Amino acid sequence: MDLKYTEEHELIRKTVRDFAIEKLLPGVAERDRDMIHPTAQIRELGELGFWGVFIPEQYGGAGLDSISYCIAIEELSKVDASAGVIISVTNSLAAYPILTFGTEEQKQKYLIPLASGKKLGAFCLTEPGAGSDAAAQSTVALRDGDYYVVNGTKHFVTSGKHGDVFLVTVMTDKTKGVRGTSSLIIEQGTPGMKIEPPEHKMGIRGSDTHAITFEDCKVPISNLLGKEGDGFKIALSALDSGRMGIAAQALGIAQGALEAALQYVHQRKQFDKLLKEFQAIQFKLADMETHIQAGRLLLYQSALKKDRGERFTKETAMAKVYCSETAMSVANQAVQILGGYGYTTEYPVERAMRDAKITEIYEGTSEIQRMVIAANLLAEWAKTHS
Ligand code: CAA
Repeated sequence: MDLKYTEEHELIRKTVRDFAIEKLLPGVAERDRDMIHPTAQIRELGELGFWGVFIPEQYGGAGLDSISYCIAIEELSKVDASAGVIISVTNSLAAYPILTFGTEEQKQKYLIPLASGKKLGAFCLTEPGAGSDAAAQSTVALRDGDYYVVNGTKHFVTSGKHGDVFLVTVMTDKTKGVRGTSSLIIEQGTPGMKIEPPEHKMGIRGSDTHAITFEDCKVPISNLLGKEGDGFKIALSALDSGRMGIAAQALGIAQGALEAALQYVHQRKQFDKLLKEFQAIQFKLADMETHIQAGRLLLYQSALKKDRGERFTKETAMAKVYCSETAMSVANQAVQILGGYGYTTEYPVERAMRDAKITEIYEGTSEIQRMVIAANLLAEWAKTHS
């Protein structure tokens, strides 16, 4: 097994790192403070091919592998975790399911603009009563001639205001439970679709999060993704890819916090010694680095499985739970190392700590990831021991 990056991976890392330092770093603290979306930078990333990193070139994407995708999200999130989630959602939760389940017509109409940076994607699964229990959907879509008429409310939609193309999970047949769910492609501005005011969040404050209400919203039947009844599977398989993006985002937050701590221990003196000379500090740095490296390996394992076309549900759940808990603990330790300064907005580590928290929650909480890991582990055991 070769654990070396290719030249292309190195180039992606350098390109995104340079972009993040030049275009995202200036103003990141102000955008966080004032909840300002990095619109211009996100559009520029689209022009550079980062809205469709692993989408084939024939559909407007960059045609790269999933490790390149993880590298890109990590490097963005190291500087600006809000940009990281916006890019992750459009790649994984909008473009990827259309690539996997879409008709050729849907790919021409929606995937190409998404992957080529013209239309930003968003994903609507969560509802007021359907969070971790994603199957408890109550948004309905009833057939009326050539249209579905959608009624219901979706919650916590990343890019709710700035998104152009939404993948919306709906109930087309309530009597069938989870097998009555379907997935619709809905365009921003469709009459009957109302974007509610933004959520005021603890972290990732540069990314916009909204509830969306659908009231008699008419969607052409040609916008049904897959078949009626496939909605839950489409959403969960999209989340397999989404969780990889969030694991990469968490890794970026952790790496950014570690680098801020490393810089600080080379400058700060106490008791006539630089902080880096204290073994108590060295041990913290050692643990931070070890967890980050372990998380990166788990993440790349899931990326390799995805690119081999194998089911990667368990691996991506393991990467997400490990990387997000690493992000939380590394950011916490970074704040501790910086002491009082770390607790102020003068340094980026307090933002890292706030941004890290959501990675343990969205796209499936840590508890849900453990459920998924255990269910897959037990199924594998049963298969080999029956
Ligand atoms: N890929 C494809 N199909 C899958 C799948 C996967 N990864 N996981 C399960 N399925 C299929 C199953 O095979 C099953 O199909 P059959 O009935 O045909 O066998 C069907 O889906 C139902 O599976 P389960 O019985 O396992 O479903 P469940 O109701 O027990 O729930 C769950 C499973 C893991 C708890 C799931 O509900 C879940 O992941 N919940 C968390 C939801 C979540 O992550 N929400 C985040 C929303 S997005 C967001 O955060 C906002 C944003 O914009 C960033």
